Amino acid sequence: MDVIHSVAELRARLYNERQVALVPTMGNLHDGHIDLIQLAKPRAACLVASIFVNRLQFGPHEDFERYPRTLAADCERLAQAGCNVVFAPDEQEVYPEPQEYTVDPSGIQNLLEGAFRPGHFRGVATVVLKLFNMVQPQIAIFGKKDYQQYLVLREMVKQLALPIEIIPAETVRAPDGLALSSRNMYLSPLERVEAIALYHHINTIREALQSGRRDFAALESQAVDALNARGWKTDYVAIRRQSDLMQPDAHAHALVVLAAARLGNTRLIDNLEVDLS
Ligand code: PAJ
Repeated sequence: MDVIHSVAELRARLYNERQVALVPTMGNLHDGHIDLIQLAKPRAACLVASIFVNRLQFGPHEDFERYPRTLAADCERLAQAGCNVVFAPDEQEVYPEPQEYTVDPSGIQNLLEGAFRPGHFRGVATVVLKLFNMVQPQIAIFGKKDYQQYLVLREMVKQLALPIEIIPAETVRAPDGLALSSRNMYLSPLERVEAIALYHHINTIREALQSGRRDFAALESQAVDALNARGWKTDYVAIRRQSDLMQPDAHAHALVVLAAARLGNTRLIDNLEVDLS
């Protein structure tokens, strides 16, 4: 496995590769990331993982500075998983000058995560487009753990006619149901036990929808109240259409329940798809 830090070296390494799959990450890899690698592996002769903590997608009071950076351990895991190339540029390599040209993902960037993290999806779309141009993959894998991110990037590829196939990966969870996330390491042992409540409440909504309930607003606010009563600060619990994250009508079949809430100093997100066909 080659560990490469510059775009020039990356281009030289990939010059003769015909089928390249890219798994973009911010590092501190866990089993969810490795699952993306395993999904990509049989789909391309050359598998590239990128590791870059992208300042552009963090708000001024978010965790950019303390985001865990564990390159050596990440490379070990990637080598074991059969990755061919790790692209780990520094900030100067990705943003040698202030980034004046950016990608603005239309209306979807103002919903849900976007409403609570202004500019977040502009930062994500911009860096992912740059990574696409640096690596020039035929395939890229994104996790549904970040459901809105996956939709933003899928639409970016479609609307900008990028010759890249986007493949979604299912969310990998701990045995108790908590979605794996690099941010789980911020949780104290007590918070780690409590963290499962987020999954528990969106799962309760999924079961209610499956049993025929369509009072979306009541289901959402019950979950918000229940989480807040346990000491969470809930940003949203929302039942939306899978296709565009807009509000569903009572006949919609393909739904997704999304939630974001803060436990102590840690902000967690999760979601579950619900197919009612
Ligand atoms: P990061 O949070 O490191 O996640 C990298 C990829 O792993 C994303 O596609 C994310 O959805 C996926 N992922 C994270 N946790 C997962 C889990 N439990 N199960 C399945 N997939 C999971 O997302 C980013 O980085 C950045 O925004 C990035 C796309 C790299 C742009 O900077």
